[in-house]
Amino acid sequence: MYKQLLNHQIVISRIAMLLGSKEAATNHLSKCIYSVGMGNNDYINNYFQPQYYPTSSQYTGEQYATVLVQQYSKQLKTLYEYGANKIAIFGLGQIGCTPAEIAVYGTNGFACVDKINSAVEIFNVKLKSLVDDLNKELAGVKFIYINITSITSGKAFPGLTVLNVPCCNVSSITRLCVSNKAPCSNRSTYAFWDAYHPTEIVNVFVAGRAYNAQTAFDASPIDIRSLAQL
Ligand SMILES: *[C@@H]1O[C@H](CO)[C@@H](O)[C@H](O)[C@H]1NC(C)=O
Ligand SMILES: *[C@@H]1O[C@H](CO)[C@@H](O)[C@H](O)[C@H]1NC(C)=O
Ligand SMILES: *[C@@H]1O[C@H](CO)[C@@H](O)[C@H](O)[C@H]1NC(C)=O
Repeated sequence: MYKQLLNHQIVISRIAMLLGSKEAATNHLSKCIYSVGMGNNDYINNYFQPQYYPTSSQYTGEQYATVLVQQYSKQLKTLYEYGANKIAIFGLGQIGCTPAEIAVYGTNGFACVDKINSAVEIFNVKLKSLVDDLNKELAGVKFIYINITSITSGKAFPGLTVLNVPCCNVSSITRLCVSNKAPCSNRSTYAFWDAYHPTEIVNVFVAGRAYNAQTAFDASPIDIRSLAQL
C-alpha cells in the first residue's frame, strides 16, 4: 500500500495539472469515493504459510492483527492527507471458508477452518474500531467499514449451489486456475472461481450490499450510497 500511495501522489499531481491548481485537485478529490481493501494476503500468503514465513510463531493472532492495523492506520491517514474524504474500507472475508484453506488445513467436521476465521475476525474487529477512531480524530472525513462476513452470511444467493469447490481447475500448489482447461459449465452456480477468489456473481452481490446495506452490520456507520450523498 505504501507503493500505491506513492503512485497515487503522481496521479494527484496529474489531476492538479489538468484542473489547473493543487486546490482544484484537492477539492475534486474530496468528493471522490475511495475503496480500500487490504489484509487478506497477509493471512493467506503469510501468517497461514508457516512453511515460508515465521510470523505465526513470532506473533499471536492478536499481536499480528495489531501490527497490521497499526500500519494500516498510518496509510489511511496518509490517504487522508492527500485529500481523500470519503473512504470505504472493506474488512477481510472468511478466509477459512476458501477451498484452498479447507484443502490445506481441513475443517475437523465443520464447514470452514475455524482457527483461520478466528484470526481474521480479530483483525476485522480492530479494523472496525480503527474506522470509529479515525472518524472521531479527523474532522470532515467519513470512513466506513464494510463487513463482508455479514454480507455473505445468510441465504441470499439464489442459484448459488457450489460453495466450496472452485469453478476452474486449480493447481494443487498455487491453488489458482490451471491454464487451458475448461471452467465449470455454469459459473453462476459457483461461489469460487479459483480456490481463493470469489466469482463475479459473489463480487457483484457484495458490491451491491456495500452500496445499499441490508442490515446494520453490512456497512457502518453508513453505507456507500449514503457516503456518496454527503
Ligand atoms: C460482522 O457482521 C457479523 C454479523 O454477520 C457480526 O457478528 C460481526 O461482529 C461483524 N464484524 C465486525 C468486525 O463488526
Ligand atoms: C446458470 O445457473 C443460474 C443459477 O441457477 C441459472 O439462473 C441460469 O439459467 C444457468 N445458466 C445456464 C446457461 O444454465
Ligand atoms: C479439470 O480437469 C480434469 C482433467 O482434465 C477434468 O476431468 C475436469 O472435468 C476438470 N474440471 C473442471 C472443473 O473443469
